[in-house]
Amino acid sequence: MEIVIAGDAQQAARTVAERIAAVARSSPHPVLGVATGSSPQGAYRELAAQVGAGLLDLSRASAFALDEYVGLPADHEQSYTATIRRTVTEPLHLDPARVHVPDGRAADLVAACERYERMIRDAGGVDVQVLGIGENGHIGFNEPSSGLGSRTRVTTLTESTRRANARFFDDLDEVPAHAVTQGLGTIGEARQVVLVALGARKAEAVAGMVDGPVSARCPASVLQLHPRCTVVLDEDAASRLADVDHHRQVQR
Ligand code: F6R
Repeated sequence: MEIVIAGDAQQAARTVAERIAAVARSSPHPVLGVATGSSPQGAYRELAAQVGAGLLDLSRASAFALDEYVGLPADHEQSYTATIRRTVTEPLHLDPARVHVPDGRAADLVAACERYERMIRDAGGVDVQVLGIGENGHIGFNEPSSGLGSRTRVTTLTESTRRANARFFDDLDEVPAHAVTQGLGTIGEARQVVLVALGARKAEAVAGMVDGPVSARCPASVLQLHPRCTVVLDEDAASRLADVDHHRQVQR
């Protein structure tokens, strides 16, 4: 794992955006893996600024979202379909026909999950996957105890994740209990992974991911096995790493 400790959230956003832009510039048809949530929003804003200034063209890029709530209408403003449109597709000037989000409303969710896996494969796989991390170590909606080789499937959200996400809804009762998520095995097939974590609330999960055993207790720890994974942190999120000084030295 490459650990980048950024001075603040803006520097972290710039670092993540640089990695995505480098991949996008190196391929005529880049395939991006995109996350929702607050962590990558700064990076999306950086990329949008580059696109707006004519420094980056993402019109030929495809994108695959990590996850979607089960049962929310697609036009619900907290559905990940609507969130990705608002925060990624429109500001980055992606072609909406090439942006995909798992279908959380399909009558046959199992078939929809298999279809999503096929779509990623048919696109040639994900070139760079952007990730956040939950306070319990989840990536996508792969909660603790998720299989390390799991594929796209329906999962049950933990109460702690529902509570963390309640900030986006009027009421905790409105947060869906289930989601469709790319599995840990699916995410691990991305050629490059860039995970961003900000703030002290993520420090314990980050330490589990980087220093802990590879274990379903901390699903993000599976990234220790990934050949090309960069973890971008601010000082607070890095504060519980076992050897911060070593990471700074490597960075220098
Ligand atoms: C979002 C996702 C989640 C979030 C995680 C962190 O698509 O899959 O794993 O990345 O819950 O959320 P934030 O960034 O809001 O702290």
